[in-house]
Amino acid sequence: MIRRPIFAANWKMNKGPSETEDFARALLPHVQHQTFPCDVVIAPPFVSLAKAAEMFGNVTSVALAAQNCSQFDAGAYTGEVSAMMLREFYVHYVILGHSERRAIYGETDEIINAKMKKAREVNLKPIFCIGETLEEREGGKLEEVLRRQVTKGLEGFSEKDMADTVIAYEPVWAIGTGVTATAAQAQEAHAFVRSLIGENFGADTAARIRIQYGGSVKPNNAAELMACPDIDGALIGGAALEAPSFLAIIQNGTAA
Ligand code: 13P
Repeated sequence: MIRRPIFAANWKMNKGPSETEDFARALLPHVQHQTFPCDVVIAPPFVSLAKAAEMFGNVTSVALAAQNCSQFDAGAYTGEVSAMMLREFYVHYVILGHSERRAIYGETDEIINAKMKKAREVNLKPIFCIGETLEEREGGKLEEVLRRQVTKGLEGFSEKDMADTVIAYEPVWAIGTGVTATAAQAQEAHAFVRSLIGENFGADTAARIRIQYGGSVKPNNAAELMACPDIDGALIGGAALEAPSFLAIIQNGTAA
């Protein structure tokens, strides 16, 4: 099974519309009229999606993601953005379950599952993030945590939903710390997550689902991580804020 890798830039709370335009101007010469052996996705903050759609709208090699969506359709939810609204910005993906949303905003597995279902109702492709804290890993709870996150977060998903879902394994201790999981640690966790998908959705879905690695991915470690058999791309924070390093990760990660 050859899975098409997917490299996604998660800008987090960085880059308003004018910085989004600057980034696009730097990236465009390298992506316009180009084909890549992978999917390339950029996830700006909500307020920069219109600018990103304007800049990348007719660039077929780049897709847009949102970083979150509401678990509700519409109504009295001050500060929230619905999955349906995102469709107006040429958004195809939505990052859900990021550890920052879990830890800082108290998102539970149940809330994340509700958001995942809302995303699918409007045909958005979830980039579903999972991962353990250092304390959980050191306490021998890695598999228990991943099992809970996968089982609850994907509860009620059909085979079709799974075909449009990407999983991002992001060990919390590797995010923004400069400490990357070793290729062996990442591969072991990815293989376990794939086996969980097999248990829940069958061998075909497990073989097809793309599992990205996230956590201090840089141009100089992308090749080693992407060479692992169960790693199908990366979800990149800090190193995706500048076009040259984002491009270098894609190039190094797909050169194998
Ligand atoms: P860093 O690449 O900055 O470690 O962030 C990873 C991440 O959280 C992507 O979602």
